[in-house]
Amino acid sequence: MNEPLAAVVLCAGKGTRMKSSTAKVLHPVLGQPLAAWPVGRALALGCNPVVAVVGHQGDQVRAALEARFPGQALRFATQGEQRGTADAVRAALGALDGVSGPVLVLYGDTPLLRGATLEELVDTYRRNDAPLALVSTKVHDPAGYGRVLRVGERLTGIVEEKDCTADQRSIREINAGVYVIDAGFLRERLTALRPANAQGEYYLTDLVALAAQKGDVGSVSAEFEDTAGVNDRADLAACGRVLQGRINLEHMRAGVTIQDPASVTIEPSVTIGVDTTIEPNVSLRGKTRIGSGVTLGQGSVLVSTEVGDGTTVLPYSVAADSVIGPRCLVGPFARMRPGTELAEAVELGNFAETKKSRLGPGTKAHHHCYLGDTVIGAKVNVGAGTITCNYDGFAKHQTEIGDGAFIGSDSQLVAPVKVGEGSYVGAGTTLTEDVPPDTLVFSRAPRIVKEGWPSRRRAKAPRGR
Ligand code: UD1
Ligand code: CA
Repeated sequence: MNEPLAAVVLCAGKGTRMKSSTAKVLHPVLGQPLAAWPVGRALALGCNPVVAVVGHQGDQVRAALEARFPGQALRFATQGEQRGTADAVRAALGALDGVSGPVLVLYGDTPLLRGATLEELVDTYRRNDAPLALVSTKVHDPAGYGRVLRVGERLTGIVEEKDCTADQRSIREINAGVYVIDAGFLRERLTALRPANAQGEYYLTDLVALAAQKGDVGSVSAEFEDTAGVNDRADLAACGRVLQGRINLEHMRAGVTIQDPASVTIEPSVTIGVDTTIEPNVSLRGKTRIGSGVTLGQGSVLVSTEVGDGTTVLPYSVAADSVIGPRCLVGPFARMRPGTELAEAVELGNFAETKKSRLGPGTKAHHHCYLGDTVIGAKVNVGAGTITCNYDGFAKHQTEIGDGAFIGSDSQLVAPVKVGEGSYVGAGTTLTEDVPPDTLVFSRAPRIVKEGWPSRRRAKAPRGR
């Protein structure tokens, strides 16, 4: 790029067609607000500044974008009243003070744009003499989009669908809503536009005819898959699928097996090692990092979770903000809540729930248990139904279990409490005091045996019973 390009991304609209109490550009697509996709594109292209124009639910939109792009060349401008796309760009002019030369203008509802298309657009702008260039797409069904008007090859303007004549409505070349526009031209002509159209709005698209009077308006032709806009929830889902398809393709080309790509969710920030297999309906979100040679069982959901090499996660396991070490065996139906850390070769079975707990290497908790606020050493066996009673109604308390200890089934460990190295806790024990190392402890009610008692009881019962 010859000179740094400024960018404006329009994110102020309400998105009426979404029928939502949430602004359209805040609706998530693969875990990111819709507007973060075009804003991210502009930032990745090196644009500086990138001005996001916010308005409807502006504070939330701003906060969401700031959280997504901390410390980047992102600025904000506010459009008080949503009076159309031209009015929105006008609201950005203050933030573009001192900017001369080309400005990339994007709409906050077009998440599919590719960097290559934008680069081609900048080149096209530079090769032509008009103060504007745009991206267009040929489609079968142009409904809802502005139509590109041409006289011969020459691009002469854009007409919005609601202002189309019957003839214009049949034009299948649509305006993608992606432009490069000269900053000086914007300053000079934006204020001259009038809302003389069916919607009574200030249309940015009216600049195209004005630019065509000054020279040849260049256009880049892109696939609909790269330019589709989100106007309603069906578009939102369709764009999500396209983006997911691109992400899946990248992982598969990099050596990941995805058995049923159409059914998985893999957010853009996720990394996956080679020879990992992803079964159907798996969802990998946030900053999840999967090692190599991992198997992720059907229906598993991992949010910002790390999984070490060679681990198998059996179906329907759920983890968030956790670390699962290498060569572990987890699930089916295991639940790892935030702060779970499994060292290598840990086995966590069905209906095991963990929270803020460290399990040492080779430790096993195979069935039905709750381990919260717990530090467990190496090679511990946690029996079925073991519960750490970490909460006394007021505060949370720690449980510590030493290396090689054995916790019998159906035990309750009332925290704070420690079980020493190599100790045994007998099945059914309610543990309220620390156990020294190499010690057996159990609490059990004495056994009472009454032979023949049931028959005697039945004999006394009323007839017919
Ligand atoms: C717009 C184009 C249309 C194009 C289509 C491509 C205009 C007049 N029309 O139509 O030619 O084919 O995009 O997707 O530009 N916005 C504001 N402030 C406003 C109005 C809108 O910030 O006052 C923002 C919206 O948040 C949205 C974007 O601008 O992100 C586009 O607005 P939208 O109403 O969706 O325009 P379309 O009708 O889709
Ligand atoms: Ca739109």
